Amino acid sequence: MKAVVYDKKNSPDRLVFCDIDKPVPDENEVLIKIHAVSLNAADYRSIKMGMIPKRKIFGADIAGRIESAGKNIAFFKPGDEVLGDLGSYGFGGLAEYVTAPEKALIMKPGSVSFEEGAALPMAAMTALQALRDKALIKKGDRVLIVGCSGGVGTFALQLARYFEASATGVCSSGNVQQALSLGADHVIDYKKDDFTKMKERYNIILGINGNYPLLKYRKALAPGGTYVMVGGSLSQIFKSLTLGWILSSGSKKMTSLAAKAKQPDLEFLAKLLEKGIIKPVIDRRYTLEQAAEAMNYIKQGHSAGKVVINIS
Ligand SMILES: NC(=O)c1ccc[n+]([C@@H]2O[C@H](COP(=O)([O-])OP(=O)(O)OC[C@H]3O[C@@H](n4cnc5c(N)ncnc54)[C@H](OP(=O)(O)O)[C@@H]3O)[C@@H](O)[C@H]2O)c1
Repeated sequence: MKAVVYDKKNSPDRLVFCDIDKPVPDENEVLIKIHAVSLNAADYRSIKMGMIPKRKIFGADIAGRIESAGKNIAFFKPGDEVLGDLGSYGFGGLAEYVTAPEKALIMKPGSVSFEEGAALPMAAMTALQALRDKALIKKGDRVLIVGCSGGVGTFALQLARYFEASATGVCSSGNVQQALSLGADHVIDYKKDDFTKMKERYNIILGINGNYPLLKYRKALAPGGTYVMVGGSLSQIFKSLTLGWILSSGSKKMTSLAAKAKQPDLEFLAKLLEKGIIKPVIDRRYTLEQAAEAMNYIKQGHSAGKVVINIS
């Protein structure tokens, strides 16, 4: 099969488009013919940190069709269309075929395309778990989404609207219209204005991208409010993990998210997608042969939504 394999000797991209053996599923796995895969920060951050999957193939979020199933597989059968996040199961999405346990997958709704299915898992589950599980979002909450225009942020805006909260997004000038079209009530262009100097206070702040002092985030919280560090620069992540708990005193909470792939969450999000309540924003499309180019693009940190690789 065709695949994009990590090779540390291959400079500068370290990703090589080549022919390798098709994987063989064990009795607890299915073999999936991949139709689309989307990239996440987890892909390029893993490369940077030297965390290379066993099969040396990146790409976690996949959508495809089951080709065959091991003898212990109860739920899926050949021909089923599925989607899933393989980040905890060895990645493997930058290829024509991958094997996966059934707990990594859900059925893809028939009305959802393969590329939409591949764009959903990691980014949407992260946004959902940040808003619902960490920040306990409720109707009427004022939510600030810092970094609202990337993969996670575009889902966070749509989910805040679904939960009937009022969302303010922070992004650069070129993405303001996109944020408004996704349901933001207000948008702050970080190239022109600084939310930390404004007087508005928020019940929830998601720090998805950027790098702001934690004390300024804390100041922007309303009494009883929660800040959730989702991502951003490595120094922002480090500061939140080490100092967040100290600043959590009083009624304001400063927390961090470590999102996990969960089948019920993915089912819930796929239902919202099927009903048209959320929709992935697809910034760019690439072929499998162009995977290194796609990875270089998302590495720059300015993709407006998701980057998808269509395989067949
Ligand atoms: N905690 C977890 O479990 C978890 C799970 C998944 C992802 N993450 C993290 O979440 C972060 C976002 O992931 P993603 O997939 O959404 O990334 P992404 O798609 O690459 O994000 C790109 C977006 O970030 C925006 N951005 C860049 N610098 C910004 C700044 N200074 N202020 C505001 N926005 C800025 C860009 O908007 P402009 O072009 O408008 O600047 C661009 O639209 C990453 O750091 C990732 O590692 C964490």
